[in-house]
Amino acid sequence: MPDRRLPVIAVLATGGTIAGAQADTASHAYQAGALGVERLLDAVPGLAQLAEIQAEQVASVGSQNMTYAVWATLAQRIDSLCQDSSVDGIVVTHGTDTLEETAYFLSLVIRHDKPLVLVGAMRPATAPGADGPANLFHAVALAGCEAARGRGPLVVMNEDIHYAREVQKVACAGVNAFASPNRGRAGMMRGTHAQFFSRNDTVYGTASEFSIEMLNAVTWPRVDVVHAGVDMGSDLIDFLATKAQGLVLAGVGDGNATDIAMRALQRAAAQGVAVVRASRTGTGRVGRNVEVDDDAAGFIAAGELSPQKARILLMLGLLVSANPTELQAFFDRY
Ligand code: SIN
Repeated sequence: MPDRRLPVIAVLATGGTIAGAQADTASHAYQAGALGVERLLDAVPGLAQLAEIQAEQVASVGSQNMTYAVWATLAQRIDSLCQDSSVDGIVVTHGTDTLEETAYFLSLVIRHDKPLVLVGAMRPATAPGADGPANLFHAVALAGCEAARGRGPLVVMNEDIHYAREVQKVACAGVNAFASPNRGRAGMMRGTHAQFFSRNDTVYGTASEFSIEMLNAVTWPRVDVVHAGVDMGSDLIDFLATKAQGLVLAGVGDGNATDIAMRALQRAAAQGVAVVRASRTGTGRVGRNVEVDDDAAGFIAAGELSPQKARILLMLGLLVSANPTELQAFFDRY
C-alpha cells in the first residue's frame, strides 16, 4: 500500500481581510481580522482531504497595524514549528497591506527549509466571491508540497506563487493585486499542484546574519522612509535625521531627489544616520554611483528592494552594524 498520510500543516492566523467581516454583504465596508482561524478553515472546501490542519491564532489585526512585537512572536512560533518533525509545512494568513513586508522579514530571520507560505485575500470572508477560501486552499496545498521546500517564504495569491523578496502589492483593490515586478512570479497553482517557473536565486535567510535570537528584547532601530517629488525641500529630512538611525529615500527614478534634499541626506549621513537610496518607481535596480556619487555622500544603494523592503533590511542591518560599507553588503546580498 502506498503511504497515504496527509501532510500536517500548521496554519498561523494573524488577521487581515481574509478574516474580514462585513455588517452587510452589499457594502464595501468591513472590519479586517474579525473572524477566527476556525471560521476561515471551515469555509475551504476539501481541506480535510488535503491536509491535517493544526490551527493557531497568533494575532487578529488588520496588517496596517502589524507590529514588530507580533513579528517576533510569529517568527519564534515558525522557528519552533520548523524544528517539529511532525509538522510538514506552515501557512500564515495575513492582511495584504503589509504581507510583502512580513514575508521579506521572515525570509531574513527564518533559517529553515520547511515550506512556509503566506496568504491573504482581497475580499472579506463574508463577501460574495470571497477569494480567501481558494487562496487558503492553495496555500495549504503548497505548504504540503515538496517542491516548496528550500525556497524561503512563499506568497500565494490568486493562483500565483511569489518569492518573498520579489512580491509586491501593486493594486489597492481587486483579486489580482499581487505581482513580482522585477523577476516575475515564482510559479502558479493548478489545483493542488504547484508549478514552479524558476528557482529562488535570491538569497534568503538560511545562512544570513539575522536570526530570531536577535529579536529577543531588542529595541528596533527607527528607520523612516522619505518620499521624493518635485521641488522637495530639506526640512523633513533635517528633522528626521534628529530622530532616526536610518533613512530610506523613496527617490524619483534611480533613487534621486532635488539637490537640496540630497544635500540634506548627505548631512544626515555625515552625522551617522544610515541613508539608503531606493526608487519610488516600483521596479528596476538602484545601483551605486550611477547618477549619485554614493561613495562621496556615504549613501547605500537599495538595489532591487522597494523602499518598504529596504526599510526592513536596514532595520535588521542596523542591529548588526552601523557601518555603511557593511550595510551596503547586506543590500548587495539580500
Ligand atoms: C489588511 O492588510 O489587513 C487589510 C487589507 C487586506 O487584507 O486586504
